[in-house]
Amino acid sequence: MSKKADIGLIGLAVMGENLVLNMERNGFSAAVYNRTVEKVDNFINGRGKGKNFIGCHSLRELCDSLKTPRKIMMMVKAGKPVDDLIEQLIPCLEPGDILIDGGNSHYPDTIRRTKYLAGKGLRFIGSGVSGGEEGALLGPSLMPGGAPEAWPEIKPIFQAIAAKVAGGRPCCEWVGSDGAGHYVKMVHNGIEYGDMQMICEAYWIMKNILGLSAEELHDVFTEWNKGELNSYLIEITSNIFAKKDPETGKPVVDIILDTAGQKGTGKWTSQSALDLGAPAPTVAEAVFARCLSAIKEERVAASGVLTGPKPAFKGDKKAFIESVRKALYASKICSYAQGYQLMRLAAKEYNWDLQYGEIALMWRGGCIIRAQFLERIKEAFDKNPALDNLLLDDFFHGVIDNCQAAWREVVAAAVMNGVPVPAFSSALAYYDGYRSGTLPANLLQAQRDYFGAHTYERVDKERGKFFHTAWTETSGTTVSGTYTA
Ligand code: 6PG
Repeated sequence: MSKKADIGLIGLAVMGENLVLNMERNGFSAAVYNRTVEKVDNFINGRGKGKNFIGCHSLRELCDSLKTPRKIMMMVKAGKPVDDLIEQLIPCLEPGDILIDGGNSHYPDTIRRTKYLAGKGLRFIGSGVSGGEEGALLGPSLMPGGAPEAWPEIKPIFQAIAAKVAGGRPCCEWVGSDGAGHYVKMVHNGIEYGDMQMICEAYWIMKNILGLSAEELHDVFTEWNKGELNSYLIEITSNIFAKKDPETGKPVVDIILDTAGQKGTGKWTSQSALDLGAPAPTVAEAVFARCLSAIKEERVAASGVLTGPKPAFKGDKKAFIESVRKALYASKICSYAQGYQLMRLAAKEYNWDLQYGEIALMWRGGCIIRAQFLERIKEAFDKNPALDNLLLDDFFHGVIDNCQAAWREVVAAAVMNGVPVPAFSSALAYYDGYRSGTLPANLLQAQRDYFGAHTYERVDKERGKFFHTAWTETSGTTVSGTYTA
């Protein structure tokens, strides 16, 4: 083989195929391989025809077709397939070569793989890739982390293929060492779960309390997309409501069964939040809402037994729709505040120097949660990189002040009408909890001390000193160790 390619790509499924076309369009030649090799031929004779690709029928051939140090992007299913592929590639690689995992891998796996491959002289990158099929082809958001010394080598390719936002800024920057890129992508997905659930709640309120049709909902979301909620998810939601099923003539949304699937990234985000002690209830509620939706038969049976109020609305519909919009915006801000708070705790735990403004910029275009308001998040962290919580930034503080009466009205209406709004209400509870200088945890500590001598701190003594009360006549003086898991 005389001419060697700039990069190799393994896995010609939807994301891999579109990503490699994007690379080629941007001037990088690529060698491609797929385990089912007919896919390689189909690609080379199909979408890749006449383009700067080298079709390979083995991993050895792929590795021999690449300029050194080799750069190989793996676009295969997360989990064991990635480990298996790495093992097959190792004998074909030389020290200094770079392996990139562009799947939705779990960050502990990425931490492990970075270390493992460094021990073999190989440089590993775990990169979040977001944006679905269209994003992969036209410009995804890329969140690379792993071996920092590999970044300058892949930066020109990654930043060339990434989505660009105002001023031509690429939605791709170095995130941090080992699992940082995949961690940030995981939080992106957790936030995506929250955003999607909140949009569903807005829909459900307007359908069930106001009785809006799919057509009317299309108009509402189209309008919302022109304002501060402007985002990819609002845009596709508006398009969804306009789509008719050719078979029945009904809106497609009305013929889709209400059971949600999930591939695990929202669950991982919530698990990480629990592990780190990060208050991120809104993503967790979004995951649980999918779980509840999945037990369809049980819900149908329960709906014939359990009672609740029958939704009814008296009032100004238009004004209420505006309140729902405000409730959605305020809830969204709280959900992002939780996601950023989680990343701060993770950065501390895993020693990552996360740049929060840059992360907002990476999410500003190309990815599923891309939205106008991420510009504001970037500005907030540019102004104050040590910002504890987004809610404390003047802009977001102002938005919440403007939205909160409507937000409370909508959550209250949903509760009174028996419409479930777990994400809206958990976001509001988070807001009210976060702004509370005092919470009822004093009583909780009393309970713990009462039944288990777990001790408590006092309001009138310095922090870190622990006390025990003899709550009953049988209480002893021995106290339990003080620690927080
Ligand atoms: C993206 C998406 C993508 C994710 C899908 C499906 O950023 O492009 O987050 O990575 O796999 O959204 O996720 P669920 O099946 O868990 O909904």
